Amino acid sequence: MSNENIEAQVVELDNLHEHREIVTFMRRSSPLNTSQKSALEQYRDLILEYPVGDLRQHFEHPERPLTVEIGFGMGRSLVLMAKANPERNFVGIEVHIPGIAQCVYEAGMAGVNNLRVLDADAIQVLKEMPDNSINCVQLYFPDPWQKKRHFKRRFVAHERMQLVEQKLEMGGTFHSATDWEPYAEWMLDVLDNRPNLENLAGKGNSYPRPDWRPQTKFERRGIEEGHKINDFIFKKIN
Ligand SMILES: C[S@@+](CC[C@H](N)C(=O)[O-])C[C@H]1O[C@@H](n2cnc3c(N)ncnc32)[C@H](O)[C@@H]1O
Repeated sequence: MSNENIEAQVVELDNLHEHREIVTFMRRSSPLNTSQKSALEQYRDLILEYPVGDLRQHFEHPERPLTVEIGFGMGRSLVLMAKANPERNFVGIEVHIPGIAQCVYEAGMAGVNNLRVLDADAIQVLKEMPDNSINCVQLYFPDPWQKKRHFKRRFVAHERMQLVEQKLEMGGTFHSATDWEPYAEWMLDVLDNRPNLENLAGKGNSYPRPDWRPQTKFERRGIEEGHKINDFIFKKIN
């Protein structure tokens, strides 16, 4: 190979490295069961196609307050929340297809129609939203990325929180929960140092577990392993 060619390849690699986005998830491929397969077809009206633009436009009542859940897993707690709060609109974002299928299956069976889901990176979806348009962003039991070299993938980080804050309405909230103590400390350290956010439990504190937040699959697992659950609710104040 000529020197010129090698040089061109190195430049290409550098560019690739520079532009590669750090994502907060790993796509896992697992098979769908029969009801999940048919749910993707039967309840396809509940599934949005990326790119989606302003999420509010996909609801019969776009003026209602919008909750966006990032990484809902299998979605049961999201369906229960949507059912319990018919006066709000809910959008769940997940990259795990069996989770999308299970969530629409349960939403469809429960007759919930104030909930939409989509398969996408939540970061990209948030970027498409108008500023000050979301009433609540929820992030329950996000991947803790336990190894130091993976810390950059943790969702709660200053650059990602800046985007979340930009998209929240004034007075809107960011609600997270984790069963991983080191991530809880990390979250507090990031969130308590965001000038645009107010810790509703007071600086340095976690929020008492709200009984309106249904238990999630990963929360149940954490409890079974003897982990403490920490909730954090922060309000946008600037
Ligand atoms: C540890 S699981 C928790 C699932 C669920 N919230 C629970 O508590 O059972 C985290 C989920 O977040 C999803 N996730 C992580 N980053 C995401 C992103 N940027 N956009 C969409 N989903 C994401 C992953 O695919 C995974 O299913």
